[in-house]
Amino acid sequence: MASVATVLSITLFLLLLQLTIFPRNVLSNPDQDPTSTDCTDRWIHIRRLPPRFNLDLLSNCSQYPLFDNFCPYLPNHGLGQKTHTRSLSWFRTDPSMLELIFHRRMLEYPCLTPDPSLANAVYLPYYAGIDALSYLYGPDVNASAEHGVEFFDFVQDDNPGIWARHAGHDHFLVMARPAWDFSQPLGNDPPTWGTSFLELPEFYNVTALTVEARAWPWQEQAIPYPTSFHPPSLALLESWIRRVRRSRRSTLMLFAGGGGVSATPNIRRSIRDECENSNATQNIGGHVKFCEVVDCSNGVCEHDPVRYMRPMLQASFCLQPPGDTPTRRSTFDSLLAGCIPVFFEDLSAKSQYNWHLPEEEYGEFSVSIPKEEVVFKGLRIVDVLMGIPRTRVEKMREKVLELMPRILYRRHGSSLGLRTQKDAFDIAVEGALQRIKSRLKEVAVETS
Ligand SMILES: *[C@@H]1O[C@H](CO)[C@@H](O)[C@H](O)[C@H]1NC(C)=O
Ligand SMILES: *[C@@H]1O[C@H](CO)[C@@H](O)[C@H](O)[C@H]1NC(C)=O
Ligand SMILES: *[C@@H]1O[C@H](CO)[C@@H](O)[C@H](O)[C@H]1NC(C)=O
Ligand SMILES: *[C@@H]1O[C@H](CO)[C@@H](O)[C@H](O)[C@H]1NC(C)=O
Repeated sequence: MASVATVLSITLFLLLLQLTIFPRNVLSNPDQDPTSTDCTDRWIHIRRLPPRFNLDLLSNCSQYPLFDNFCPYLPNHGLGQKTHTRSLSWFRTDPSMLELIFHRRMLEYPCLTPDPSLANAVYLPYYAGIDALSYLYGPDVNASAEHGVEFFDFVQDDNPGIWARHAGHDHFLVMARPAWDFSQPLGNDPPTWGTSFLELPEFYNVTALTVEARAWPWQEQAIPYPTSFHPPSLALLESWIRRVRRSRRSTLMLFAGGGGVSATPNIRRSIRDECENSNATQNIGGHVKFCEVVDCSNGVCEHDPVRYMRPMLQASFCLQPPGDTPTRRSTFDSLLAGCIPVFFEDLSAKSQYNWHLPEEEYGEFSVSIPKEEVVFKGLRIVDVLMGIPRTRVEKMREKVLELMPRILYRRHGSSLGLRTQKDAFDIAVEGALQRIKSRLKEVAVETS
């Protein structure tokens, strides 16, 4: 049962979103925005969708008993509640709200056009991951091949010229779950995990921005998980960066997460073993502790960033082992904390987020240790990390700080000063525009 307060807050939320669908001046006057002096090749049209494909889906937020009541994550256009009443930048953000967060930010994108024929790309404000809940956890679990069918019919039939102009090649959408969750082969019987949205030929031409892509190139591109940090101004971002730079790092390496308690060998287990057996010696390369584990089992960390951000601020390296999925939101939390990420396979980030974190620069801001070496060959992570000279560690941390603005989603309605710094949203939109541009060129060649 949704409480009265919840219902009220959702109603208010929907109202606010409706009111902001067409804000006046921000959109029509790009000159006001320092990042948008030129809209050439950057025009985006937002497709008008009936509310059953976005806002209506939110009103059922308490009705997925096998999932979670996600009503608490909706406030502030999907950023969630503030961590404290006086907090300006920190929210209890649930990453699965990225579809809302992105939608809200798109409404203040400086180069929107109401005329699809002028647009370089067409954004579909469809909350695909939320719509997937009824297939993943609800009554439609046996109909996963149908996810997206009704949506496609609408997109193709309503104003058919918009789709037909480029056969959908210029359309893009955000899906706030790993692509794996939408990749069940059509005709899998009995159905296994996931819906078949990304397996439907109808959507092959559409660019999907997901938080994790599949291992082989397909129609999706991975973009950062949202963290809990959404600064509204440049001053607040800069003061955070100063704090991160000043922070004393007393722990060599930290793992924030769960798992690794089963008997079978895996990387999380190796990390736990190594941490439990490491001695708290005095002053090892400026650190007091070798290793710390922040136990995030049972989701206790998910909406409580203080639990892991504080320890991350005090650690030099943050371990990012794969779990159920190769990628983790924690990777982005650690970058925010200036904690150098340690990866155990390329699928965790290197082969995913190349729009936001340049592939050729991984050696400058992260450490890579193949998980097989640790799990089966007895390589100790501590030894690898201890072997990195201090000056190099400091250089890597500076690089992390340099990249940080690119992986955070600033708050909607932020100051103009902050808008001069490209954030995760800006880079995702830029990437989508470029990808669509080259796709349209390819198609033109194919058909000429
Ligand atoms: C939301 O819940 C109502 C009633 O519980 C149901 O009739 C409706 O189909 C649901 N809507 C969606 C989009 O799941
Ligand atoms: C889905 O199919 C399985 C196996 O046929 C069945 O046991 C289950 O009750 C079905 N679930 C729903 C929600 O219809
Ligand atoms: C996708 O694009 C191809 C060619 O570029 C086209 O033949 C096909 O019909 C398009 N798919 C849809 C669903 O429009
Ligand atoms: C901890 O101390 C024991 C005994 O003093 C030593 O054998 C072991 O290698 C030490 N562990 C680490 C991680 O340094």
